[in-house]
Amino acid sequence: MSPLRTLALGALVLPVAAYANDPYSYAQPDEVRVTHLDLKLKIEFPQRKLEGEATLTLNWKDPKAAVLVLDTRDLSIASVESVDAAGKTAPLTYALAPRDKQLGSKLTIQTPQHPHEIRIAYSTSPNASGLQWLPPAQTADKKLPFMFSQSESIHARSWVPLQDSPAIRFTYDAQVTAPKDMRVAMSAPNDPQHPLDGEFTFKQTHPIPSYLLAIAAGDLSVKETGPRSAVYAEPSVVGKAAHEFEDTEKMIATAEQLYGPYRWGRYDLLVLPPSFPYGGMENPNMTFATPTVLVGDKSLVSLVAHELAHSWSGNLVTAASWRDIWLNEGVTTYVQGRITEALYGKRQADEEDLLSIHALQRELGEMPENAQRLAPKPGNIDADDTLSDVAYSKGSWFLRTLEQRFGRETFDNYLKGYFDHFAFQSITTEQMLDYLKPNLIDKYPGKMSWDDVKAWVYGTGVPKNAPIPDSPRFDTIDKERTAFLAGTLSADKLDAKDWNTQEWMYFLDGLPDTPPLAKMQELDSAWHLTGTPNAEIGMRWYVHAIAAGDKATWPAAAEHMTRIGRLYLTMPVYRALSKTPDGLAFAEQVYARAKNGYHPLTQQAVEALFAKAGKR
Ligand code: BES
Ligand code: ZN
Repeated sequence: MSPLRTLALGALVLPVAAYANDPYSYAQPDEVRVTHLDLKLKIEFPQRKLEGEATLTLNWKDPKAAVLVLDTRDLSIASVESVDAAGKTAPLTYALAPRDKQLGSKLTIQTPQHPHEIRIAYSTSPNASGLQWLPPAQTADKKLPFMFSQSESIHARSWVPLQDSPAIRFTYDAQVTAPKDMRVAMSAPNDPQHPLDGEFTFKQTHPIPSYLLAIAAGDLSVKETGPRSAVYAEPSVVGKAAHEFEDTEKMIATAEQLYGPYRWGRYDLLVLPPSFPYGGMENPNMTFATPTVLVGDKSLVSLVAHELAHSWSGNLVTAASWRDIWLNEGVTTYVQGRITEALYGKRQADEEDLLSIHALQRELGEMPENAQRLAPKPGNIDADDTLSDVAYSKGSWFLRTLEQRFGRETFDNYLKGYFDHFAFQSITTEQMLDYLKPNLIDKYPGKMSWDDVKAWVYGTGVPKNAPIPDSPRFDTIDKERTAFLAGTLSADKLDAKDWNTQEWMYFLDGLPDTPPLAKMQELDSAWHLTGTPNAEIGMRWYVHAIAAGDKATWPAAAEHMTRIGRLYLTMPVYRALSKTPDGLAFAEQVYARAKNGYHPLTQQAVEALFAKAGKR
């Protein structure tokens, strides 16, 4: 099961193509585009809301346009006005449509005069899909409350009224008021020395798509990890985080050597509470990250390589629609691998690639054909599936194939040129291909046919000749696993003392779906997997132990599920439990206790799973 397919866009099915450009947005970018956002927000913890105003600068494209259509979800709109060049305001007529379950409420503003700016006074709902509010008790240090946003894919509209489509880019300024002693961070350059006086200002001078708007506030300390990088985290976490992420500057320098200068200024990391629903989010200047990668041995820091890589693939050159998301995630996963290889060696990078290849192969079997394409055909695509392992794993595999066919040097130059050519633009798969053909495929004839390229991008499955890395260590693990399952090698004789995180993941991933109970018990007494502090290992262990019927692991599984809200680490355990009536009842009890600590997306995912399990 892919890390993200569980929920990224909810169980959306592409609506009919009523909105020519982006079916997930009501915006009409051919008529008018937002070019700048000026945000004034007050963070109100007691009411769990953001309140303030958004001033949008508009670039009118169509002289006949009479309305500005924005995306919103669960916002309370207090007023909408136009602002003229002198700052004079005048009220505008507007209508907020009934809430669409997937898209939210379309906000239609009458703008026959084509104002240069419009200003919306509004507040968010306590249940905003893109925000999580945590009371002090749910933070590490239990001193102050905490809040954070997660806008990708279509949740920015739940905290800012805007054109919520990745095809539209704008710069932003923000002025944020927070309770004293709190630090506010946004997806813009952050000042690590900023006084905690309750007033924060931000300026994002590069045009970004709406899904990269981000904000967080809480009891945040800062620790430098390099000349242009720092980690932000709660005081009791920041030391550990700075240690885990000490290679950040090396990662930036490596990426720069490969693909040209890092164009955003500072690169900071914000470590969130464990309820953060994803592993990481590439918010410009300030990656948001799960604390579940803080395992002490840097074995999971390729997450930083990944989010940093988005500074080129995704934030600089952006997929124009969610259908093209592989341009963000596939290219980024490829670059992540290159950074990992440069810093931690080929063995580490190959192991991560192999884990991703195997996950893809497991997933492809159960996938509808159209979802297996990097660029799915328009029509009835379940948006859940636009964010599967296909975008990440097949996408990066395609780039590794190009690298292998054209040679590293040629391909590196090509990719650097691609980032330069499309810098600060949102592009479709077809634009990418139009660049690929003359600049790589036709320029070096005989290396790869255009039909091969099309098979990767538009075909189902994975082309047969796709290169697979060798891993002698994984081969040994395969042999040991087989011998262990056959009973010819006892668990305590597994050569696992020096297995790294990825090797444990590989061992566990390869166990049968329903392993024999006695084998799981033997494994646990030898290696003490129940209660492991490494949640990547824990998730895989609990899934298999539960499937084997090992109820003794349930309390520890419950602790894992309660503590961690990251979808990819928690949902598989819920799924494993919900396969039996007893397990489902237990999972429901766990959820009842954990629910308040979960992000809205995690709540939605668990509830959808229960609804499905209830129908069986
Ligand atoms: N941009 C994604 C996260 C995302 C994608 C959020 C789609 C919502 C919708 C981020 O860069 C990502 O891929 N995160 C991964 C980590 C990674 C190392 C594969 C994750 O969260 O697991
Ligand atoms: Zn990503």
